[in-house]
Amino acid sequence: MDGTRALEPVAARADEVWKVYGTAEARVVALRGVSANFARGKFTAIMGPSGSGKSTLMHCLAGLDTVSRGTVHIGGTQVTGLGDKALTRLRRDRVGFIFQQFNLLPTLTAAENIRLPLDIAGKKPDPQWWDTVIGTVNLQDRLDHRPSQLSGGQQQRVACARALMSRPDVIFADEPTGNLDSKSGAEVLSFLRSSVREHGQTIVMVTHDPVAASYTDRVVFLADGEIVQELDRPTPESVLEAMKHGEVLV
Ligand SMILES: Nc1ncnc2c1ncn2[C@@H]1O[C@H](COP(=O)(O)OP(=O)(O)O)[C@@H](O)[C@H]1O
Ligand SMILES: [Mg+2]
Repeated sequence: MDGTRALEPVAARADEVWKVYGTAEARVVALRGVSANFARGKFTAIMGPSGSGKSTLMHCLAGLDTVSRGTVHIGGTQVTGLGDKALTRLRRDRVGFIFQQFNLLPTLTAAENIRLPLDIAGKKPDPQWWDTVIGTVNLQDRLDHRPSQLSGGQQQRVACARALMSRPDVIFADEPTGNLDSKSGAEVLSFLRSSVREHGQTIVMVTHDPVAASYTDRVVFLADGEIVQELDRPTPESVLEAMKHGEVLV
C-alpha cells in the first residue's frame, strides 16, 4: 500500500474527462471535458437530469469504465492508463461501491456479504472496525440473515457496511436511496454522513433528491455532460433553488 496515500488531500479527481460512446449515428458524447476534485473526508452529491452523465462520470472516476480523453486520479494514483491487473487491484482495495439495487449475493448471509471483498483480497476484517461499522448500521442481530430475509433498508445497510469495511479511499454510491422508502433512506443517508464526519470516509453520491443532497457537503450539478453549477453546504431549499435557476430538472 502507498504510505503517502493518507496525506493526499484529494481522494478522487477528474481532469478534462471526455467520454464518447458509439460511433457515427450511434455516437453519444456523455462527458464533455469534466474537471472536478473530490476532497478527502467530504461527502459530495452529483445531481443532474437523467442522461446528463452522472453515472458515466462516477464509473470513469471509479475505474469501472475507460475515458475517451483526459485523466482520472484516485488519491495519488493515475487510474487512466493502468493495466487490467492494477485496475482490478485498485478497485478492490481502494474503491467502495453502493448501488441502487444493493447488489448483494443472495446465497450469502449479511455477514458473509460484508466480508466478501476482504475475503477475496485474502484479508481479515479489523475486529474493532467490524464492531464499529456493524454497530453504526445497526445490523448486530441480522448478520446471519440472507438478503431475502431482510428489508430493502436493511439490505442497503449491509451494502454500506460492505463498502466501508475495507476503508476505501473513496466510496461511490449511485442513487443509494432510490429504492428505499423515506425512513430507510434517511437512515442510510445519516449513516453515510456519519461515516464521513466521524471516520473521515470520502463519499461521492449520485442522487435526484434535494433532501438526500442536503446530507452532503457539496453538490455538483451536471447538464448534458458538463458541470454547470456547484453548491456548498446545501440545504433542501438551496438545492431546489439551484435546480430552478439552472433549469436543471432532475
Ligand atoms: N454503455 C453505453 N453505451 C451507449 N451510450 C451510453 C452508455 N451508457 C450511457 N450512455 C449514454 O450516455 C449519456 C449519459 O448517460 P448516464 O451517465 O447513464 O446518465 P445519468 O446517469 O445522468 O442518467 C446518455 O445519453 C446515455 O444514453
Ligand atoms: Mg445514472
